[in-house]
Amino acid sequence: MTDSPATLTVVDHPLVQHKLTLMRDVECSTAKFRALLREISTFLAYEALRDLPLTTKRIATPLEAIDAPVLEGKKLVFVSILRAGNGLLDGLLELVPAARVGFIGLYRDPETLQPVDYYKKLPGEMAERPVILVDPMLATANSAIAAVDHVKAAGARDVRFICLLAAPEGVAKMAARHPDVRVYTAAVDSHLNDHGYIVPGLGDAGDRMFGTK
Ligand code: PRP
Ligand code: URA
Repeated sequence: MTDSPATLTVVDHPLVQHKLTLMRDVECSTAKFRALLREISTFLAYEALRDLPLTTKRIATPLEAIDAPVLEGKKLVFVSILRAGNGLLDGLLELVPAARVGFIGLYRDPETLQPVDYYKKLPGEMAERPVILVDPMLATANSAIAAVDHVKAAGARDVRFICLLAAPEGVAKMAARHPDVRVYTAAVDSHLNDHGYIVPGLGDAGDRMFGTK
């Protein structure tokens, strides 16, 4: 792989790596795959959100008044890239229940590997909120780049992308097209095959998550 861009964070926590191995296994059931993705999503979010700005709020503990840290600014936004992004969304909402949620529907044309748009619904005031896009796979990055284009067109300025697995080609393309977007992943695999699949990867994330083919 070429040098990783500064915008890339690989979450190499042993629990994440262990769970990812379980997910890659072709014998992993649909139910187990979904559960593991949800578990990993909270570790990825922990890293992606670790620099959220804080302010203080005056509160009284039973012993004394203190200025205690609380999140600053408007509620953040999670944007799920349909449909596989939904596998990460629930875990993130468990961590940040008050987050706003947007959806971008697109699928990758299997021949051209270009994204095809079919749905978009985003919260307001995107410019004032950290926006975290979620999709388990960053392969060619065509889908992720299109999704970032959408949220930036809606005003987003602080954009982060959480995925489970990335290909070196996708990481490089995202860094070239959107150098301000930070990418968080559990692993960067070897390469893309002729069909644009991540190798060794885990196959089609949506199909494995929802039991389709
Ligand atoms: C998968 C995946 C990403 C995209 C990644 O979605 O969830 O959205 O492919 O590939 P890329 O980086 O080459 O664009 P898919 O198109 O299979 O749709 P789905 O989520 O509906 O299964
Ligand atoms: N989309 C997937 O679900 N898996 C890949 O390996 C590439 C794109």
